[in-house]
Amino acid sequence: MKTLMTSLATVLLSYSAVAAVPSIEMNQKAELDADTLVLLVSPEQLAQSSSAVLQHQAVKHAIKTTGFSAKKAAQLDILAEVAGYNRVMLLGTGEPAQLTAASSNNLGADIAAWVKKDKARSVTIDTAALQPASGNADFAAQLAHGIELRSYSFDRYFSKKTAGEAKKLEILVTDEQTAERQFSKLQAVTQGVFLARDLVNEPAAALTPETFAAQAKALEKYGVKVRVLDVPAMEKLGMGALLAVGKGSNRPPRLVVAQWQGSDQKPLAIVGKGITFDTGGYNLKTDAESIVRMTSDMAGAAAALGTVKALALQKAPVNVVAVMAMAENMISDKAMLPGDVLKSAAGLTIQVTNTDAEGRLVLADALWYANKEFQPRAMVDIATLTGAKVGAVGTYYAGLFSEQQQLVDQLSLAGEKVNEPLWRLPLGPQFADELKSDIADLKNTGSSTGASTAAWFLKQFTGETPWAHLDIAGNALSRADKEVNTKGATGYGVRLLTEWALQQP
Ligand code: BES
Ligand code: MN
Ligand code: ZN
Repeated sequence: MKTLMTSLATVLLSYSAVAAVPSIEMNQKAELDADTLVLLVSPEQLAQSSSAVLQHQAVKHAIKTTGFSAKKAAQLDILAEVAGYNRVMLLGTGEPAQLTAASSNNLGADIAAWVKKDKARSVTIDTAALQPASGNADFAAQLAHGIELRSYSFDRYFSKKTAGEAKKLEILVTDEQTAERQFSKLQAVTQGVFLARDLVNEPAAALTPETFAAQAKALEKYGVKVRVLDVPAMEKLGMGALLAVGKGSNRPPRLVVAQWQGSDQKPLAIVGKGITFDTGGYNLKTDAESIVRMTSDMAGAAAALGTVKALALQKAPVNVVAVMAMAENMISDKAMLPGDVLKSAAGLTIQVTNTDAEGRLVLADALWYANKEFQPRAMVDIATLTGAKVGAVGTYYAGLFSEQQQLVDQLSLAGEKVNEPLWRLPLGPQFADELKSDIADLKNTGSSTGASTAAWFLKQFTGETPWAHLDIAGNALSRADKEVNTKGATGYGVRLLTEWALQQP
């Protein structure tokens, strides 16, 4: 059994997602002898027939017959030899002034989806005539970022790999150097997102608290400081809440700390829920469709680790520490029971009224640790915490809970920029009564408004530090290929938290 576990852990270190991701170059002049051309076109360029390609007979004919208007994301696929290419695709941008980072990402995602199913071996993507408000270089970099994000695949369990050889793409830009510089930062973010997706897609038998810790350790080569607290270390600190959640499993819990110290400022702390599988415990989850999704209950921890990787790879001038509370919520003769009273590291005692409300228990000790050990400037926790959040705002928004207006503003802005939008939900002492226990300081469930009582519970462990809670239940998995996501893990939160950390004054 021991050898099996270690061999899985080493296999884990080699993902092949990269194989499906095309290589992308930024060029001022076409260098690739590509078979396919993708031309980004605005309505204005279309009206002026402003390039040789747009003046080509076959292209003009196709535009006229289809009524192609270059509105945003409109595609026109032309199977004709034009300007030395076998095939040309026109991709509408709509009004360039309206293009944002997020809509540029989505245009890139459309290109990736198209390239994936197309036979093209190499593609030139021409953006050079486009000058949106943010500039051509920024647009091209965000477009390329979208292409990479949508090209992800998780194929390590297929006996036949389908990815084949990576395709070659070049993007024509007006300023190669600037475009490359911007893109290389976004490539770091892509790597962070892919790490989070890989970890979330990985089934629970392979991704345990220990193998997650090994994945964090693998970031040491990028200059990340990693510390792993095992059970005795957590016992010493009195982490009775985290330990109780993990004790039903023979895969022991871990507190994993990963820090990118790119500046001497006080750190920002990101605290992640890392339940590698959530059976519910004795309050067992009984719905087959929802329990199988609980391999993704460590998506908060994955987002925290992915963010650290994204920042480390771009050597960002920020100090960010991720504290990840890893445990498996299982049933066994060792497991915690409904009614048990736990003592958290903060000293507060907790009556477990529902073993399926385990996320807040592990986060209680992780928040306390992050606060005590690092005295952060601000703390954000990220967790697949409650089904109630999904009921309230669905799966497009994440729930944001904070009493700190500044944090609310910063996080909301970052979310808008990267298209991981947040919706603020109530947090405040009006929920305190619901968490009063007859025999302990707190109980772990209230009677109503599940997402807000969970948030109020967490607040008890954050001290005086500015803090926000992100409930990402429903955001971690996508049911379909859509925009920059592929079906399965989204890596939700990496882009948001990276953007937030980079924007800190
Ligand atoms: N991991 C779940 C929440 C969840 C639900 C995540 C759906 C993703 C999709 C969490 O641990 C949980 O079980 N929460 C309970 C809390 C309840 C017992 C108070 C819930 O939401 O039902
Ligand atoms: Mn649960
Ligand atoms: Zn859970």
